[in-house]
Amino acid sequence: MPFIQPPVTPLPDGISLRGQTAIVTGASQGIGAEIAAQLLEREASTVILAVRNVAKGETARQSLLARDTIKKANPKAVVKVMKLDTEDYDSVQSFTKTFLAEHSELHLLLLNAGIGTLKRELTRTGHEKNVQVNYLSNVLLMLELLPVLEDTADKTGKPSRVTWTGSRMHGSSALAKGKVPLKPGETVLGHFDSEESFVAFSRYGDSKLLCLLFLFELREHLSSDKVIVNSFCPGQVATGMSDVLPIYLRLPVNLIKAIRARSIETAGWIALNAAVVVGPESHCQFIVDKEIAEPAAYVKSADGQKVQKMLWNETVDEMSKLITIPAWMSKA
Ligand SMILES: NC(=O)c1ccc[n+]([C@@H]2O[C@H](COP(=O)([O-])OP(=O)(O)OC[C@H]3O[C@@H](n4cnc5c(N)ncnc54)[C@H](OP(=O)(O)O)[C@@H]3O)[C@@H](O)[C@H]2O)c1
Repeated sequence: MPFIQPPVTPLPDGISLRGQTAIVTGASQGIGAEIAAQLLEREASTVILAVRNVAKGETARQSLLARDTIKKANPKAVVKVMKLDTEDYDSVQSFTKTFLAEHSELHLLLLNAGIGTLKRELTRTGHEKNVQVNYLSNVLLMLELLPVLEDTADKTGKPSRVTWTGSRMHGSSALAKGKVPLKPGETVLGHFDSEESFVAFSRYGDSKLLCLLFLFELREHLSSDKVIVNSFCPGQVATGMSDVLPIYLRLPVNLIKAIRARSIETAGWIALNAAVVVGPESHCQFIVDKEIAEPAAYVKSADGQKVQKMLWNETVDEMSKLITIPAWMSKA
C-alpha cells in the first residue's frame, strides 16, 4: 500500500435498498455509523445499530435521523438501537434472540465492530479480547443469523449478504510474520489466548488474520446461493480507532492519519461496494478498496493453510458449545 492512498470512486447511482433490513455492528461511531448512514441514504427500510453502549447508539441514531440526505431520501426509515457487546457470547445470543423475536427478514449483516487494543486482557469467555471482539463473536453472530439471512434469500430470490470489515493489517500478524510461531501441540486459539504469544502491536493484525482464515475456509463449506459472505479493507481511515493508543503513539499516528487517512465517507463507499455492489464472485473473498485481492502471502503458504484448517476445526468445537452448528459446518 503506497503512503498516499489511491483515490476511490463513489458508488454508482441508482442503488435502492428499499424494503431491506440491515444490521450494522459497531454503528455508534466511525465506519459503522457511516455505513448505516449510506445504507439509509440508499433507502434501506430498517437499519439496526448494534452497539455496546446504548446511550451512544441513541445519539448516533438521532444524528442519522437529522441528516438532510437521509430525511430527503428515506423519510420513513426505521432506525433502531440494540445492545450488542461482542466481548461476550451472552450478549451476542441475547441480541440475536431479541432481533429474531422482532424481525422475520434480514438482507444485510455488516460485521463492523472492532478494536485494536495494546493491553492483554482476557474476556469473560476466557479468550483474549481482540480475538473475542474481532473474531469469535462475529462467527457466532453470523451463524445465529444465517437462518434468517437464508429465509430472506428464499423470499427475495437473491442472496442475502454478510460483509465483514477486515484489514490489510492481517499481514502484520505475529503469526503471519513468523515472530511467534505455533508451538508443537498448541491449538490456534490457545496460542492467541496465551500470555507468551501476545505481541501488543501485532495483536490487531492477529485478530484480523483469524477472520480472513475463517472466511477462506468457509468457501469450502458454504455456497453463495443464499448468502454471499465477504470482507473488505478500507485502507487507513480517519476514525477514533487510534484514541486507545498511549499519548506518545497517538501524536505520530494522528499526524500520519492527517496526511494519508481516507475520509469515513470514502470508507462507507468501500463498505457498501462490498455489501451491495459486488456479486457472488466476491463470496469468501478479501476486497481491498473496491477490488478482490490476494491476502498476505502467509495465508496461502503451507503453514497458513495448516493453521486455516486447525482454526476452522477449533472454531467448530467452540461454536458447538454455544449453538447447534449447521450441517455444512463439518470439520476440515
Ligand atoms: N480506521 C481504520 O483505519 C480501519 C482500517 C481497516 C479496518 N478498520 C476496521 O473498521 C472497523 C470499524 O473501526 P473504526 O475505524 O470505525 O473505529 P472506531 O471509530 O473505533 O469504531 C469502532 C466501533 O466498534 C465498536 N466496538 C468496539 N468494541 C465493541 C464491542 N465489544 N462490542 C460492540 N461494539 C464494539 C465501537 O463502539 P464504541 O463506540 O462503544 O467504542 C465503535 O462503534 C473495525 O473493525 C476496524 O478494525 C478500521
